[in-house]
Amino acid sequence: MNFDPQTIQLKNGKFVLVREARLHDAPAILQMVKSYLDNSPYIPKSTSEFRMSLEQEEAWIQSFLDAPNSLLLVAEFENQMIGNIDLTGNKRQVMQHNALVGMGMLIEWRNQGLGSALMQAAIDWAKSNPILENLQLEVYAENLAGINLYQKMRFQKVGIIPKLFKENGKYCDSIMMSLSLKSE
Ligand SMILES: CC(C)(COP(=O)(O)OP(=O)(O)OC[C@H]1O[C@@H](n2cnc3c(N)ncnc32)[C@H](O)[C@@H]1OP(=O)(O)O)[C@@H](O)C(=O)NCCC(=O)NCCS
Repeated sequence: MNFDPQTIQLKNGKFVLVREARLHDAPAILQMVKSYLDNSPYIPKSTSEFRMSLEQEEAWIQSFLDAPNSLLLVAEFENQMIGNIDLTGNKRQVMQHNALVGMGMLIEWRNQGLGSALMQAAIDWAKSNPILENLQLEVYAENLAGINLYQKMRFQKVGIIPKLFKENGKYCDSIMMSLSLKSE
């Protein structure tokens, strides 16, 4: 299902384009993700673990274009890739009405409302998708900006996995959150 591109204005006054990712975006997305992983303690993947080749990145983008219950959006400022959100629809028949949300952005663009705008765009798309009924995500219990954003978007805390994350001997719980697209 197509996504109509949107231009949104952030708190810093800048206008950002939100659109569906295409295959030719693969190099720019790779570069952006590598760059923001370094500054994202709440994404459980280190830059050294992120070893996608260009071909794998293209295949990843294509998987969103092929799956009717999946969506990959990117945010661009003056042709620079600055953030992304993905809804990965479940492939199993009995769970295909669910999609898992992931998102990230360059550090200098955080706390400007970009995450909220990307999430709102994804939720609006998901609400008009004929297959999807629920969105789910997992978030570090310490990720207060993320939790704040998700609660603002009416995600509810539905569970907790204690001590899922461990870094340098320090544990952090994982909070599972869910949004029903049909309850409003
Ligand atoms: C988490 C993330 C997606 C949020 O996006 P963002 O653009 O920074 O978020 P927004 O500016 O739209 O909204 C954040 C909200 O949290 C609030 N917030 C920020 N830091 C906070 C903190 N420490 N405690 C409580 N609230 C906080 C902001 O004030 C804002 O609230 P508001 O909309 O009521 O003003 C973004 O910071 C990011 O990509 N982080 C790195 C990767 C990551 O953590 N991904 C998510 C994995 S689940």
